[in-house]
Amino acid sequence: MKYKYTSRSEEDTMELAQNFESEKFPGMVICLDGELGSGKTVFVKGFAQALGIQETITSPTFNLVKEYHDGEMTLFHMDVYRLKDSCETVGFDDYFNQDAVSIIEWPDLICGCLPEERLDIKIKVYDENTRIFIIEPHGQAYEDICNSVL
Ligand SMILES: Nc1ncnc2c1ncn2[C@@H]1O[C@H](COP(=O)(O)OP(=O)(O)O)[C@@H](O)[C@H]1O
Ligand SMILES: [Mg+2]
Repeated sequence: MKYKYTSRSEEDTMELAQNFESEKFPGMVICLDGELGSGKTVFVKGFAQALGIQETITSPTFNLVKEYHDGEMTLFHMDVYRLKDSCETVGFDDYFNQDAVSIIEWPDLICGCLPEERLDIKIKVYDENTRIFIIEPHGQAYEDICNSVL
């Protein structure tokens, strides 16, 4: 089952992320796929804000993973756009197994390392301010979340 959500502004996308945040659980994994400028990082910002994270969210260009510990739950923000080593080398499994939420930009690059149970979000740019979100839950927990959020 896939869900569709139309975001008409950056604020809409932030709100969608905040709604998912309210359903968070330790070990939650969200994959954000979409071209540059589609709004992946905006989504992470909305999620982080709802977690109560004060630190500014910027894309983890050099270290692939940024950790935020000052919110209600630890957030791992992964942007693997520039991944050069294999994902095994980076050891993503260690992140996914912690009591934290992981959000991954460009998940296709590490698809072999992703847990089976996760939330896949594909963002399509429709026009300057409109984004189409195609949301696909994998696993019962994520299906339940989509049922309450969407
Ligand atoms: N509906 C929308 N949702 C999210 N971002 C939007 C939307 N409409 C316009 N934008 C703009 O698109 C850009 C998205 O940037 P960003 O989140 O960094 O993209 P990405 O991380 O996917 O490369 C921002 O400049 C944002 O203001
Ligand atoms: Mg980004």
